[in-house]
Amino acid sequence: MNEVSRRTLAVLGSTGSVGCNTLEVAHLQNDHFSVRGLSARSNVQLLFEQVQKFRPELVAVENIAAATELENRLASEGLAATKVLKGVTAATKLVEELSPDVVMAAIVGSAGLYSALRAVELGGCVLIANKEPLVMAGHLFQQAAKQSGATLLPVDSEHNAVFQCIAGADLAGQSISKIVLTASGGPFFRHAELPRWPTLSEVTPEQAIAHPNWTMGAKISVDSATMMNKGLEVIEACHLFELPVKKVSVLLHPQSVVHAIVNFIDGSSVAQMGLPDMRVPIAYAMSWPQRFESGVSNISLAEVGSLTFREPDFDCMPCLGLARDVAKEESPVLATTLNAANEIAVEAFLKGNLSFVKIPEVIAKVLGDCNGNPGIDVETLIRVDNDVRKQTLDLVHSR
Ligand SMILES: NC(=O)c1ccc[n+]([C@@H]2O[C@H](COP(=O)([O-])OP(=O)(O)OC[C@H]3O[C@@H](n4cnc5c(N)ncnc54)[C@H](OP(=O)(O)O)[C@@H]3O)[C@@H](O)[C@H]2O)c1
Repeated sequence: MNEVSRRTLAVLGSTGSVGCNTLEVAHLQNDHFSVRGLSARSNVQLLFEQVQKFRPELVAVENIAAATELENRLASEGLAATKVLKGVTAATKLVEELSPDVVMAAIVGSAGLYSALRAVELGGCVLIANKEPLVMAGHLFQQAAKQSGATLLPVDSEHNAVFQCIAGADLAGQSISKIVLTASGGPFFRHAELPRWPTLSEVTPEQAIAHPNWTMGAKISVDSATMMNKGLEVIEACHLFELPVKKVSVLLHPQSVVHAIVNFIDGSSVAQMGLPDMRVPIAYAMSWPQRFESGVSNISLAEVGSLTFREPDFDCMPCLGLARDVAKEESPVLATTLNAANEIAVEAFLKGNLSFVKIPEVIAKVLGDCNGNPGIDVETLIRVDNDVRKQTLDLVHSR
């Protein structure tokens, strides 16, 4: 392929787990992609190495001191052709200035909301890994995509799997009776005997982060351990596939081989399988509607031997129950509250300021105080996000 037919790519959250995997696929598929933009919060060393390798036009760095450090380093190493954007709006500015063909939205948490939404408003192809903004404001993403003509492609492995299962089907929700998102159970809920929640009181951040099947960033790894990740994914799925929550269910599947199953009204069930490696869904989103190599081999079912499935037990998994209850309400303010309280509670746990078992307790308390503000615009949701963060932090510190 020549330069004209290479699609321009910006990777938001390029130093993270999804970001690095995306750049690996982009490097492998160098004929198809020209990496023009990178973004991170503060990881100067890795950003520098990524600039050396991909020579993007722009890099966005949220932390101002880190941005200045990177700028100086690029200048002294003869890489000043890459311009550095600084501060909380840098990733959004990067998307606006480059308006790339493809944006990978892989910042973690609600911090990625503006840049991902702006990418959708600009009408390109947006690959969404960053689930928290979808949980908060999925309706705004769908609305913006309809207005701009943007293509919104799911990267989260379960949602990408659903997308693969329904490829070619007329969506409109009519032919689908249910979608089933599988959950490995993380480090604590993978065995037949599920632990009762209070017995997890001694869990340390190291134990919670040690996911048995996937290598991921710290926040999503803790979310997997509490099962909040699956709860957020249920809300994400409702938005992405425009389905009511009664059509989205969860199945425990410790081997993480089947990523999702779609049940159709004619009795067919279509499942997507693959090794638990994010390069598979990332490559599918990057190559869609074609396919290209991701660098991952096919799974050998003979080697896996057996696959097991069972229903989750909500009594053992309070975070999943909280998210399911919020999903039923279809309220962006409640979903934003759930997400923000969870982000702060997880951060507090990772810093050693909150015990693992208190995470759902704190979230439930904050949800209980939510005044049911009916706002659905982005300014309201950002205000709710900020307020809930402060409220949750106060609650954590008062314990
Ligand atoms: N990891 C997975 O396998 C996986 C699978 C499915 C979905 N997801 C979703 O994808 C997203 C990314 O997950 P991850 O595991 O890749 O996270 P991660 O490894 O923690 O990486 C997060 C990325 O976001 C950047 N970042 C963090 N805070 C920021 C801020 N305030 N402003 C701007 N950039 C910021 C980080 O920069 P620094 O490195 O400089 O801090 C890093 O590049 C999450 O929403 C997650 O739920 C991840």
